[in-house]
Amino acid sequence: PRTAVIVVAAGSGTRLGLGMPKALVQLAGQTLLERALGSVFAMSEPAQVVVVAPADNVEQAEALARSVAGVASEYLNVVAGGATRQESVRAGLGVLLDSVDEVLVHDAARALTPASLFDSVVAAVRESGSGVLPVLPIADTIKEVDDARAVVGTLDRSRLAAAQTPQGFPRAELVSAYFAAAEEHTDDASLFAAAGHPVITVDGDQRAFKVTTVWDLRRAESYIDDSAQ
Ligand code: C5P
Repeated sequence: PRTAVIVVAAGSGTRLGLGMPKALVQLAGQTLLERALGSVFAMSEPAQVVVVAPADNVEQAEALARSVAGVASEYLNVVAGGATRQESVRAGLGVLLDSVDEVLVHDAARALTPASLFDSVVAAVRESGSGVLPVLPIADTIKEVDDARAVVGTLDRSRLAAAQTPQGFPRAELVSAYFAAAEEHTDDASLFAAAGHPVITVDGDQRAFKVTTVWDLRRAESYIDDSAQ
């Protein structure tokens, strides 16, 4: 395959508070990981799929991933993640096939992301040669606050965008940006830009929201119920 998708699923799920890694939480009868992988395996071109699993749950994640992959499991790798998201992505970068030119990095927690968003990010990376970030406009007014919780300022909402995944990158630049990274970043576009590479945006998708809290899980369940009718 020309493309690899690294699905990071090694987070602890502390904020969800269900006592298990978030990717293994059930959402209407399937784990978040299975739902996320369902879209990855529905991409229009087959990709190498690298699942980065919690170190204690690698076998379980592998069994789930193989069940979703079916015949496509030839291009599936499951590796153990690290203490931070950045370490987890780095673990995934270590097993890329030689044929891969573009790498997408995706949060398993964005379990309802449609396959079409993966396809559009791949197309934009090929066309631009840049990093590609799916974004949505921000609905809330965003404030900067200090340690005493006083408001320091209001950011200009028209210039802000909420970052989603999958984020896509030319492989060589992404790997060298990971080698060069001196600090922790909360997403790959930030790390890639810190290494001096350009990042463009494409339209994100409401369904690519990140499941972080129980409220998000309920929102995801109601979306599945509605779309099943
Ligand atoms: O914590 P947060 O919700 O920002 O995590 C985003 C994604 O990164 C999740 O899918 C989570 O499983 C993954 N992650 C990881 N390894 C970590 C921390 C987070 O793979 N150490």
